[in-house]
Amino acid sequence: MDPTLILEADHRVVERLIEQISEAEGAARTKLVEQLATTLDAHMELEERVFYPAMEPVTGPDSVDEGETEHVITRSALADVVELCPDGPGFEAALDTMQAAIDHHVKDEEDEIFVQMRSKGRGQLEEMTEPFMAKRAELGMVIDVEALAETASKDDLKAEADAAGIEATASMTKSELAGALADVAGAG
Ligand SMILES: [Fe+2]
Ligand SMILES: [Fe+2]
Repeated sequence: MDPTLILEADHRVVERLIEQISEAEGAARTKLVEQLATTLDAHMELEERVFYPAMEPVTGPDSVDEGETEHVITRSALADVVELCPDGPGFEAALDTMQAAIDHHVKDEEDEIFVQMRSKGRGQLEEMTEPFMAKRAELGMVIDVEALAETASKDDLKAEADAAGIEATASMTKSELAGALADVAGAG
């Protein structure tokens, strides 16, 4: 599957967790923050180890520098959130700061990097798919079906499902296509 679609689904999961964190309290908030830290750490490691090196010939070295610098900013903001969780003074401000850093970075990736990769980096995307999925397995990352269905178009999901050899895709809903793709990716 196109790694950019999977990374976008990860982004939707992170955004959902941040929303849940701002509404939760006490132990529930701590649990969600731990989940966010694990998810974000794995996502950034995956990008730094596999995606960014593979995108460099397409998007240029400056985009890799920018991505890595924004990850440093995100890690530092995340560390503040973890430290102040669940109700330390300034927790809300730390959460807002982290959210702003993540929103900016996600916009850079989705509106620029991923768009460039899909238009002129198809070969690199295909080449990186195997190491990308292997790294996800190593990091224990799963594809969130709901997030994938939310972020990808039905046409994209159907094309990916057809390419993956999934049958009867024409009669499937968006969620069914996302679910079938996540199953194939998990089994692969
Ligand atoms: Fe990302
Ligand atoms: Fe990133």
